[in-house]
Amino acid sequence: MNADGNAAPGPVSVRVWTLSTAGLDEAAVAPWAAVLDAAERARAARFAFAHSRVAFIAAHALTRAALAQATGAPPAAFGFAVAEHGKPQARLDGRSAGLAFNLSHTDGLVGVALTASPGLALGFDLEPLARRAPMEVAARFFTAIEVGWLDGLPEAGRAEGFFRLWTLKEAFIKATGKGLTQDLSSFWFAVHPPAISIAPELGERGEDWCFAQRIVQGCLAAVGVRDRGAGLAVCWRELAGREFDPAAGLAGPGERNRQ
Ligand SMILES: CC(C)(COP(=O)(O)OP(=O)(O)OC[C@H]1O[C@@H](n2cnc3c(N)ncnc32)[C@H](O)[C@@H]1OP(=O)(O)O)[C@@H](O)C(=O)NCCC(=O)NCCS
Repeated sequence: MNADGNAAPGPVSVRVWTLSTAGLDEAAVAPWAAVLDAAERARAARFAFAHSRVAFIAAHALTRAALAQATGAPPAAFGFAVAEHGKPQARLDGRSAGLAFNLSHTDGLVGVALTASPGLALGFDLEPLARRAPMEVAARFFTAIEVGWLDGLPEAGRAEGFFRLWTLKEAFIKATGKGLTQDLSSFWFAVHPPAISIAPELGERGEDWCFAQRIVQGCLAAVGVRDRGAGLAVCWRELAGREFDPAAGLAGPGERNRQ
């Protein structure tokens, strides 16, 4: 109950689906491209490398399957409007689809986070843990506080720490939609548990944001929302690539819930 005696609003509910693309080739994902629109298929065709095309098709088919699951509309029914710095928003029948989503693709894994509030700032990022952490660029992307935390970790945990920070920072700049136009030195994270601090000049309050992070299918995943103190409840779902069929929905046998 709040001070007025009303039931307090519950936490922001976010669903995350990840889909393994390890071992998938272009032939395997070709049927998934059927749910993409002409603009997405044209973008897919422009990738120079097959693995990038596979990841793009998988991420966009997964996103459409998630939007379909949330709305009951078919996966191919959605359109996308792109905001100023490139963040896509889902449209249905010429209007907002009534949802916020954000997708990410990386080596061997794609994913999407989705929530039922269309105006909510939501960001999502994935990075593979097996990738070499480029420690030499840490000071370029992270603040002195973040670099200090990283340097204090035992050597064996430093690569994971790097990607924890990286995905959290990405989740924030993807949630605001500003991407890399956002000054990366104007906000910084504590990692365990994830919490943001924001410099006053950004016009945002750290208390208005909530983040969740976990390791899924060999990658670090981070979700961030401007929850305004409501809290965040994330339902994580993992899909095996070979069992995914966007036209059949997301409740198939490949879905595993680890929560
Ligand atoms: C574009 C950017 C928003 C994310 O890029 P990324 O981490 O390389 O890529 P991801 O796969 O996680 O996300 C890409 C998806 O985010 C969405 N996206 C694009 N611009 C976006 C924006 N401004 N805000 C939120 N989402 C955006 C799109 O759906 C895009 O996928 P699509 O092109 O297939 O439609 C931007 O942050 C970027 O260029 N990052 C580069 C990495 C970097 O230097 N990060 C520093 C972190 S400390």
